[in-house]
Amino acid sequence: MNFLTDALTRHVGCETASFHTPGHKGQAPVGAFEVLAEYPWQMDLTELPGLDDLSSPTGVLADLESRAAGIWGAAESIISVNGASAGMVAAMLALASRGSSTVLVPRNAHRSIVSGLVISGLFPIWYDPVWDDDWGIWGSLPAKSVERLLERCGGEPAGLVITSPTYAGAISDIERIAGLCHSAGIPLVVDEAHGAHLLGGGGMPPGAVTLGADVVVHSLHKTLPALTQTGLVHVGRQSLIAASGLRSALQLVQTSSPSYLLMASIEQALAAIEAENGGPALSRLQELSVRLVEELAAHPELEVYKPLAATDPAHVLVAARGRQPQELFNFLCERGVFPETTLGRGVLLMLGLGSTAADVGRIVSLLPQLAELQAGEAADSAFARGARKSWRQPDPVQVISPRQAFFMPSEVVPAGDAVGRLSAVTIAPCPPGTPLIVAGQRVPPEILEYASLQSLKVVLE
Ligand SMILES: Cc1ncc(COP(=O)(O)O)c(C=O)c1O
Repeated sequence: MNFLTDALTRHVGCETASFHTPGHKGQAPVGAFEVLAEYPWQMDLTELPGLDDLSSPTGVLADLESRAAGIWGAAESIISVNGASAGMVAAMLALASRGSSTVLVPRNAHRSIVSGLVISGLFPIWYDPVWDDDWGIWGSLPAKSVERLLERCGGEPAGLVITSPTYAGAISDIERIAGLCHSAGIPLVVDEAHGAHLLGGGGMPPGAVTLGADVVVHSLHKTLPALTQTGLVHVGRQSLIAASGLRSALQLVQTSSPSYLLMASIEQALAAIEAENGGPALSRLQELSVRLVEELAAHPELEVYKPLAATDPAHVLVAARGRQPQELFNFLCERGVFPETTLGRGVLLMLGLGSTAADVGRIVSLLPQLAELQAGEAADSAFARGARKSWRQPDPVQVISPRQAFFMPSEVVPAGDAVGRLSAVTIAPCPPGTPLIVAGQRVPPEILEYASLQSLKVVLE
C-alpha cells in the first residue's frame, strides 16, 4: 500500500529548491500569520459568529474581498476556494447570460474554460494566438489578430476569452485588446491565473484589471504566498459583466464549505503585496528572475525562451540544446531541484514570492554538471539527434458544442476507429491542461501520434 503522507514527506526530504507552484515555496507564514502554521487544526473553522459567510459576505470576508479589489484596482473581487478553475467556469457562465450562443476562445485555453463551455452550453469559436514553431508552444495574442478575429467571427459573440500570461510567460497587450472588444460591444475575460503578481510595482508589468479587462481570474497559489486552491475573480471598473451574476455563478460551482485556512492564506498573500503596488516584494522577485535568466542564458548549452511581446518574470522556460526536455527535467529533479513541468521543447521554472536567492543559487550551482547531461548515457540514444520540435496540432473542427457532445449517447472505441468521428470527451492532460481534443470536435488522424491513446469515447451519431 502507498501512503500519501509518506510520499509527501519523502518529497519534502529530497527537494532542495522549488521552481514549481505553489508560490509560497514551502515557506511558513510570518508575523501575524504564523498562527496559521502553528494551529492549523484550530483555524480550520466554519461559518461561526464573527467569521462571516462566503456565500453572502458582510463581515471579515467582505473586508478581505474589498482589500483585494483595492490591490488589483477592481470594482469588486470575489474569493474562490476552488482556484482559478472555478473562477473560469463562473466567468463562462456569466458570459452565457449575455444571450449570445458563441464565444471566442483561444487554442491554449486551460481545461477549466472547456468545463465552462460544457456547463454554460456556449459554442466555442477557436482562435490561434501566435504559434512559436521553434519552442512548440502558444504565445501571446497580437491586437492586430483581434481586429481580424472580430471582423471574421460574424454575429456578436458573448465575449472574448484570452490567456495572459501564457504558461510560458507571454503577455498580451490587454489594453488594446480590451479597447477593441469594447468597440465591438463585447466583454474581455482574461485568464490571468499565472499573473496575480502583475501589479505594476517592483518592475512588474501591470495586470489586466487596470488595463481595462471586464473580468480577470487569478490563481493566487501559482506565484503568491497563498495555499493551493485559492483564487480571485475580479470585475473591472467599467465591466460589461455584472459582479452579482459572477458571484452567483461562482456559488453554483464551488464548495459550500469554504476552507478558512485557505481564505486566511489569501489574507497573507494580500499583506505581502499590499504596499506600493507590490513594489518591495515584487522587486525582489524581479531581481531573482533577472539573475536566473542571465545565468541560464550565459550557459553555452542552454537557451531561454523570449516571447515576442512582454514577458512575465515569474515564468522562465529553458531548453538544453539538442536534448529532450524530459532529460533536463530529470537531471534537475534527481539533484533536488524541481521544475514546474516540461513545456514544448523546454522546461518551465516558476518563481514565486517565496523564492529565495538560495533557490536560484542551487540551480546555478548545478550548471557546471550539465556536461554530464550532454555526455551521459543518453548521448548514444535517439535523443542525441536533437530535441524533436513539438508540432502544432491540426486546426480543430468543432461540429457540435462541447455540452451537446458531453450529454449525447457515446461509445468507447479503439483510437484508430475514432478518427473522423466526434469526440465525446475532452482530453487535456495537466500540466499544462490545454486540450488535445475537445468534446464535439471531429477526431483528426494526427491524434494517434500526439495523444498516444489506446481508445477514445466518441459520440453515437
Ligand atoms: C492558464 C490557466 N488557467 C487556469 C488554471 C486553473 O488554476 P487553478 O489551479 O487555480 O484552478 C490554470 C492551472 O494550471 C492555468 O494554467
